[in-house]
Amino acid sequence: MEKREENYWDSKLKEIQSKKSGENKAYSEWKSRTLQPWNRKTGYREKEYTNSSSIDLKEVYTKDDLSKDYTEKMGMPGEYPYTRGIYPNMYRGRKWTMRMFSGFGTPEDTNRRLKYLIEHGESGLSIAFDMPTLYGFDADNPRSDGEIGRCGVNVSSLQDMEEILEGIDLSEVSTSMTINAPAAVVTAMYIAVAKKKKIPLERIAGTVQADILKEYIAQKEWIYPPEAHIRLIRDMMVYCTENVPKWNYISISGYHIREAGSSAVQELAFTLADGFYYVDMGIKAGLNVDDFAPRLSFFFNSSINFFEEIAKMRAARRIWATVLREKYGSKKERTLLLRFHTQTSGYTLTWQQPLNNIVRTTVEAMAAIMGGTQSLHTNSYDEAWALPSEEAVKIALRTQQILADETGIPDVIDPLGGSYYVEWLTDRMEEEAYRYFDTIERLGGILEAVKKGFIQKEIAGTSYRRQIRLEQGKEIMVGVNRYEEKNEKPISTLKISHKAQIDQINKLKKLKETRNNLEVKKSLQDLEKALRNPDENAMPYIIKAVEAYATLEEISNVGRNIFGEWKEPVIV
Ligand code: 3HC
Repeated sequence: MEKREENYWDSKLKEIQSKKSGENKAYSEWKSRTLQPWNRKTGYREKEYTNSSSIDLKEVYTKDDLSKDYTEKMGMPGEYPYTRGIYPNMYRGRKWTMRMFSGFGTPEDTNRRLKYLIEHGESGLSIAFDMPTLYGFDADNPRSDGEIGRCGVNVSSLQDMEEILEGIDLSEVSTSMTINAPAAVVTAMYIAVAKKKKIPLERIAGTVQADILKEYIAQKEWIYPPEAHIRLIRDMMVYCTENVPKWNYISISGYHIREAGSSAVQELAFTLADGFYYVDMGIKAGLNVDDFAPRLSFFFNSSINFFEEIAKMRAARRIWATVLREKYGSKKERTLLLRFHTQTSGYTLTWQQPLNNIVRTTVEAMAAIMGGTQSLHTNSYDEAWALPSEEAVKIALRTQQILADETGIPDVIDPLGGSYYVEWLTDRMEEEAYRYFDTIERLGGILEAVKKGFIQKEIAGTSYRRQIRLEQGKEIMVGVNRYEEKNEKPISTLKISHKAQIDQINKLKKLKETRNNLEVKKSLQDLEKALRNPDENAMPYIIKAVEAYATLEEISNVGRNIFGEWKEPVIV
C-alpha cells in the first residue's frame, strides 16, 4: 500500500490528539457511583443524545474533558486565536448589524421595504434578487415568465438598481447583495450608482455573496463552468482591493450548504474549505494574502441545536485564524479575523403552526449572538409560506432588538466560553473539520471534490439520515411530527402581483428604445475582448457596460458565448 503523504491537516490532527485529555475518571466514577443507581431506580428518557454532526453527548462535562491546552485554545476576545470573538470589546464596541434579507417585486417595491426596515431600526441593508436575476436573465426573457419579483427583486439594468437605492445614503449604510453568478455585474451596478451619487468608492461599504463554489455544492445557481466564475471573482477581488477598500467582495457561505441538509460540522468544514480555495486563488492572482484576505467575509446558518451552533462559530474563528497564520503565513491581524453574517435556519421553519417559528428564530438568533456574529438576519414566522409580510418581518427585527436591548446577552463577551460542554464541543467540531480538510485535500481540493460529487453526497447522506429520524419520530418537529393540529387555517401572506412582471418588461422595452445602443454595443465588444484575455481584469469593462445601460442578460451573454453554460455531471 502506498505510504500516506503527511500534510498540514495531519499535523493539526496529531496536535489535537496529543493535547486531548485522557479518560475522564471523575465522570466514570460519578457515573457508576451516582448516575447509574439513580437511573435504575427512577428510569431515564431513552433517546439518541447526539447532534446534527452525529457527535454523541455525555450527560455532563467536567474540566477533565477539556484539552490540555484549553486556555490557549480559548484565548481572550480580540486576541489570537479569536475563539471568544474577533474584537476586544465585541458588542460593547458595536452591536451586530441588524441586516434583514429583503427584496421582492419591482425595484420600487423593494425600495419601500428597505425604507420600512430602516425606519424600524435595521442597521444594514440586504437585497434579495429574483431567479431571473440570479441566473443572469432579463425580465423580457421567456424563461423569466412567472418568476419576476417572486423570490426577490427583479434587476435587469442599472436603472433598476438606481430605483432600489433611491433616497438611501450609500455612504452611511452598508449593503449586502445576495447574488452569485452575476455578482460582478451587480457589484458594477452598485459602484455605478455610487458614482452617479458622487460618493467616493472608498466610502461605500457592503458585501456581495459571489461564493460560486457553494452554488456548485448546494444552491445550484451558476451560469458558467467553475473556472470562468472563479476568474470573475478574482477580477472583483483585485479591482475592489484597489478601488473599493470597504467592499467585501465575497461572502463565503455555509448557509445554503446547511439548508441543503448538511450537518453543522459539514457546514463548518465545507465553508472554510471554500474559504481556503479563495485564499489560494487570490495568491495565485499575485495578491499578498494580507492585502485581499481581510475582505473575505463569511455567512453561516444558525440552526436549532443551540450549543452546537455556538461551538461551530467559535471553532470557525479559531480554525480560520490558525490556518491563515500557520499555513498562509499571514502577518496582519485583520487577516486572521473571521467576520461573519448569520441567518437563522430556514429548514427548521414549519408551515404548520407558523407562530411557533418566532420561538425557533429567537433561539437561533440567541445562538448567533452568543456565537459572536457580526451581522444577523432573523427569519420571519411566515417564511415557510411566502416572502415575509411587513408584520412578520417587523417581529423578526424586533426579536433582534429585544435580544440586543433587554436580555443583557450582548453585555458580556462569549458568555458560554469556559463551559466544559461548549469548550469540549468546540474542540470536537474543530477536530472533525480538520478531518474533512484532509479528505478534501486528498481528493484534489474542494473543486475536485465537488466535481467528483463527494461534497454533495456527504450532504445528501446527512439529509437522508435526518429525514429518516424525523419519520421514525427520533427527531421531533413540534407541529410536524408531535403536537400536530388538524385543519389549521391558512395565514395571510405577502402576495406578489403579476403587475410586477408587466411593469418590468415595459420598463425594459422603453430603456432599450431610449439608451445609446451604439455605446451599448461598443461596451459589450470591449467586454468580450477583455473576457477573452485571462490576464485582463474584466471589472472596468463590466462597469462601463453597466453605465451604458447594457442589461444584465446582455452582459451575462457575453460570458455565455465565450465560456458556455455549465451542466452538473451526473453524480452516482
Ligand atoms: N470595535 C471596533 N470596530 C468594530 C467593532 C468593535 N467592537 N465591531 C464592528 N466594528 C467595525 C468593523 O471593523 C467594521 O469596520 P470596517 O468596515 O472599517 O472594517 C464596521 O465596524 C462594521 O462592522 P462589521 O464589518 O463587523 O459589520 P458589517 O455588518 O458591516 O459586515 C460582514 C459584516 C459579515 C463582514 C459583511 O460581510 C456582511 O454584512 N455580510 C452580510 C451578508 C448577508 O447579509 N448575506 C445574506 C445572504 S441571504 C442568503 O444567501 C440566504 C438566502 O439565499 C436564503
